[in-house]
Amino acid sequence: MPKHEPSVSRETPPAAPTTSYDDTPIATAAARASEVLTPGGTGTLPRPPQPRVMTIANQKGGVGKTTSAVNLAAGLALHGLGVLVIDLDPQGNASTALGIDHRQPGIASVYEMLLDDVPLRDAIQRSPFNERLYCVPSTLDLAGAEIELVSVVARESRLRNALDMDLLSQLNIDYVLIDCPPSLGLLTVNAMVAAQEVLIPIQCEYYALEGVGQLLRNIELVQAHLNKGLHVSTILLTMYDGRTKLADQVAAEVRNHFGDKVLSTIIPRSVKVSEAPGFGMTIIEYDPGSRGAMSYLDASREVAERGAAVGGRTK
Ligand SMILES: Nc1ncnc2c1ncn2[C@@H]1O[C@H](COP(=O)(O)OP(=O)(O)O)[C@@H](O)[C@H]1O
Ligand SMILES: [Mg+2]
Repeated sequence: MPKHEPSVSRETPPAAPTTSYDDTPIATAAARASEVLTPGGTGTLPRPPQPRVMTIANQKGGVGKTTSAVNLAAGLALHGLGVLVIDLDPQGNASTALGIDHRQPGIASVYEMLLDDVPLRDAIQRSPFNERLYCVPSTLDLAGAEIELVSVVARESRLRNALDMDLLSQLNIDYVLIDCPPSLGLLTVNAMVAAQEVLIPIQCEYYALEGVGQLLRNIELVQAHLNKGLHVSTILLTMYDGRTKLADQVAAEVRNHFGDKVLSTIIPRSVKVSEAPGFGMTIIEYDPGSRGAMSYLDASREVAERGAAVGGRTK
């Protein structure tokens, strides 16, 4: 598919920051975009005291795990933070959206990290979109890993053992976001063992909470046996359609259930968000002034502000 020019390029001359968007929709989007993309326009976010390793999990497919992983990552990076996305889904959609070519034969990927002891240093790639944004890509080989891991020593801790904290620190990485496949198998368990936090995207649709109980029980099992520090820190409501009563009901139910773990930012359902991956881009690259981009930027700000404990590092 041909590379698509984002509707507002980075060369757009910086406009004076403005908060009133009362012109035409196009002017509004352009103003927002230049605000977003102007260095300093978004301000920088606090760095967490230690790199935060967050697993983005929900065994239901199509709830926005990958979309949230790449767009939160892009948002955090745009705000000045170092971010690594680990693509743990054999489909490799997160790698694609971050502009990483993961179909070249012979590239080192997360598969080799998990099964062949290839170090993080050899598998990590920098996204062409932002110098602070990195990815460990996945390849189709990963589809076999679920089975191949079964007979491997320390099969649940392979990813944790491969996360080279010295390298993360050298690269100034503040966030590691792990995009999980839609299952609760060994790949997701590896992600949960490697992380301190779980972020659960929940779609504002019928049956939104279906399966979440099972996910929470799995998290408890990992806590009890493999990773005491693991906890659900963040719930993100996705694909909200303001035209339906149902979306509000689901959002209210989720807030009722999870309280202040739920980010106040809700990601709207938006065609632009679903188009961006087709062009190998995050929504923030594809259309930085769109509602989808703005909501992921807001969500990334919330994530960072919640996670910045007193005494966060300074750059
Ligand atoms: N906010 C949104 N608005 C519209 N489409 C979305 C939105 N978020 C995700 N999508 C689309 O929904 C589909 C599933 O999203 P994805 O992030 O791949 O889910 P998962 O990783 O949980 O399987 C994809 O086609 C994606 O482009
Ligand atoms: Mg996915």
